[in-house]
Amino acid sequence: MRYFSLPGIEKPVSVLCLGTGGMGSAQTADESFTLLDAFAERGGTFLDTAHVYADWIPGGAGASERTVGAWLRSRDVWGRFVVGTKGGHPKLETMHLSRLRPEDIAQDLAESLERLQTETIDLYWLHRDDPAVPVGEILSALNDHLAAGAVRAIGASNWSTVRLEEAADYAAAHGLTGFCASQIAWSLARSNEPYNAAMRTIAMDKDALRWYCAAGLRVIPYTAQASGFFAHPYDETAARFSAYHSPVNARRWQRAQTMARERGMSPNAVALAYLLNHPCGGAAIVGPHTGEQMEDTCRAADLALSDAELAFLEAH
Ligand SMILES: NC(=O)c1ccc[n+]([C@@H]2O[C@H](COP(=O)([O-])OP(=O)(O)OC[C@H]3O[C@@H](n4cnc5c(N)ncnc54)[C@H](OP(=O)(O)O)[C@@H]3O)[C@@H](O)[C@H]2O)c1
Repeated sequence: MRYFSLPGIEKPVSVLCLGTGGMGSAQTADESFTLLDAFAERGGTFLDTAHVYADWIPGGAGASERTVGAWLRSRDVWGRFVVGTKGGHPKLETMHLSRLRPEDIAQDLAESLERLQTETIDLYWLHRDDPAVPVGEILSALNDHLAAGAVRAIGASNWSTVRLEEAADYAAAHGLTGFCASQIAWSLARSNEPYNAAMRTIAMDKDALRWYCAAGLRVIPYTAQASGFFAHPYDETAARFSAYHSPVNARRWQRAQTMARERGMSPNAVALAYLLNHPCGGAAIVGPHTGEQMEDTCRAADLALSDAELAFLEAH
């Protein structure tokens, strides 16, 4: 495992961040603890959860945060783990109504602290954006929580580069702490839908990548393994990968298979290593849900790829 640092957080942050979206719901508490133990054994120190996870299951509200909180406490590893959670997500039944007012953020944060059984969250992400809410109002509210010690650092998820730049400018001009990282979808498979209006999610595209490289804002991508796209046969009838079916991705899929054979790794690990070795990347949120997938995913963290190999993988 390799590590990096994030401003405001005095713990080494592993380049792999374990996504816990299904913990306590799709995975039982026991299965979740087994995955978390395996991640810790392989040097992982970085977790991603969210206030909204499992809200889609009747009675499931908070299942992921509660499971993560119970595991951290039972293993006594809060001092070593960097825990990120996300708030400010719209209610699932009213996705068109944003929840980014100071009172929405305060309510979600208080509930997340309680569910995670802690007084301080290392990295607090806003899960969505609403350009109609001024960045100054949002940053001021978050800076109040930083000053109160409820969070150590702040990040933005599914924010456009225009809004990220606006937020950075506002923070610099007003002496506030800005976002230390951005969480969007990004993988070796280029998404056919960089902006999903219904879900209000954002995926990396060419313009955004150029902006991130120039701005130097750290990207910590989700769906970094393209939901398993590289681990399954290329099949344009597979609905679960419809966001990735394209001639470019068919060639990338093929190149990942070729490099996997050459390097003695799985195609999935090669695709993940692409992000971890990318000059504007370096970290990724991952969602293995079996022991074998965890092992394969963590092996990617140690796979060094040359510039020529990166260029080979992303060639059109
Ligand atoms: N900020 C946001 O809006 C947002 C949105 C989505 C996700 N997230 C975060 O990102 C986390 C992960 O998301 P994700 O599930 O989309 O990520 P992902 O890692 O791209 O996809 C996970 C899926 O890929 C397959 N897989 C994982 N590891 C594998 C391996 N080593 N070999 C082969 N297949 C493998 C599995 O599917 P099969 O076994 O079924 O093939 C698994 O369910 C979530 O838990 C959450 O924390 C954040």
